[in-house]
Amino acid sequence: MDALAGQVIVFTGGGAGIGRSVVSRFVAEGARVVAVDITDAVVDLAAEFGDAVVPVVADVSTWDGNRIAAQTALDRWGRIDVFVGNAGITDGACPLEEMAGDQLSAAFGELFGVNVLAPMLGVRACLDALVASSGSVILTGSFASTNAAGGGVLYTASKHAVHGLVRQLAYELAPDVRVNGIAPGVAPTRLRGTTSLGQSVSDAVLDGTEQALPLQEVAPVSAYDGVFTMLASRTESAAMTGSLVTVDSGLSIRGIAKPGGRVQADAVS
Ligand SMILES: NC(=O)c1ccc[n+]([C@@H]2O[C@H](COP(=O)([O-])OP(=O)(O)OC[C@H]3O[C@@H](n4cnc5c(N)ncnc54)[C@H](O)[C@@H]3O)[C@@H](O)[C@H]2O)c1
Repeated sequence: MDALAGQVIVFTGGGAGIGRSVVSRFVAEGARVVAVDITDAVVDLAAEFGDAVVPVVADVSTWDGNRIAAQTALDRWGRIDVFVGNAGITDGACPLEEMAGDQLSAAFGELFGVNVLAPMLGVRACLDALVASSGSVILTGSFASTNAAGGGVLYTASKHAVHGLVRQLAYELAPDVRVNGIAPGVAPTRLRGTTSLGQSVSDAVLDGTEQALPLQEVAPVSAYDGVFTMLASRTESAAMTGSLVTVDSGLSIRGIAKPGGRVQADAVS
């Protein structure tokens, strides 16, 4: 368990869900992590992992939030090897026709601020240090990065934009910094909604999700740890840049008649 020995990682959205699980794995693999979150749930990580995790409570849709996170890593450990842009919010799968026209600009600004602007700000804040370390970037996309109906119009457009960011930044930063993404399908978390649409939090797993997946089960949040670790590793993914790795229990290859070829008929809802 030393795939990331000595690496310094700035990780957004580390307070809950997929991010919290990955931060735990990164520490187990020998990394030191600045874990950033808008909630103070990240503060517990320091109690759990001691000096290996420095929590930063900040809004990553702001320049200051990202600047402070990067500076914290540099002040504490003098380098940054990986930036992970993982913080995200949802639109609760709200269709365009259910949003009032005068709500849309605020909702767009809020959701794109977290899902698209934040990873851009984070990469910018860490950029000099990433170039100096020949480091890498990992962005959390989604099934919705390449498919419709993984969210509403705002979420889907934002996650398609994350795919664009992965590809464009991989181009712009080559050969010095590798840039890759991960596209989860459905993880058992409670994503924050878009407050300007009046949303609070919602379960990512809907009734019937399990039966719709070719692999017939909703994987735990820890299902993503291994791929994040591989992409953060200097050796295990040395030839990868510009890739969006799908980790979706087969959601993007499900069939029409039944979700998977060997799924029993009585399992299909
Ligand atoms: N849960 C799923 O089914 C699913 C599927 C595909 C992609 N994703 C993506 O995975 C990533 C992680 O989401 P999750 O499912 O673990 O949800 P989560 O809500 O458990 O984790 C997201 C974290 O981001 C933090 N965050 C939100 N806005 C922030 C901000 N402005 N500044 C700082 N931190 C902020 C939240 O407080 C939370 O701790 C997101 O990018 C999400 O879009 C999730």
